Amino acid sequence: MQHSLSFFLLDIANPLPVTFHRAIDVSLNPKTSLEDIIELGFSRVLTSGGQPSAIKGLPLISELTSMGAGRIIVMPGGGITPDNLELILKELPELREFHGSGSGAWKESRMEHRNDSLRMGLSPDYAYKETEANTVLNLVNISKRIWNENT
Ligand SMILES: *[C@@H]1O[C@H](CO)[C@@H](O)[C@H](O)[C@H]1NC(C)=O
Ligand SMILES: *[C@@H]1O[C@H](CO)[C@@H](O)[C@H](O)[C@H]1NC(C)=O
Repeated sequence: MQHSLSFFLLDIANPLPVTFHRAIDVSLNPKTSLEDIIELGFSRVLTSGGQPSAIKGLPLISELTSMGAGRIIVMPGGGITPDNLELILKELPELREFHGSGSGAWKESRMEHRNDSLRMGLSPDYAYKETEANTVLNLVNISKRIWNENT
């Protein structure tokens, strides 16, 4: 394993905690990678459990959470919305953190000059999503309700 780059990043950030951001999801062996990430000194790992969304990746997220217990925070992320958060929190009772954009529906861009014969990237060029206060409040409400039930 190549240590140098990660040590460098962690050194610069020290004493701030550093989150390992989802590369674990494309790892050949996420469980071995989790041990490497812990050994390197990361304090948190963001993961969708090796699947396109956290809800699909729940089985691996659950395993990684148990493996990391007390050594690293495993934070699920990827498509977490008010519609599926309750299920995720109930499936992962140890969880105290989750990641979400809190975004609502796609919004149409106000760009007037458009050229549909080329694309700038994979997401739509003339539409965007943004974090919405109501969605965030909803996520907070759901997590408070579930976490208070469990305590
Ligand atoms: C759109 O892009 C094409 C390809 O680059 C170019 O030929 C064309 O002039 C552009 N049209 C507009 C309206 O900018
Ligand atoms: C969240 O809960 C508060 C207090 O129970 C309530 O007033 C508010 O309407 C709720 N917000 C959403 C977005 O569900």
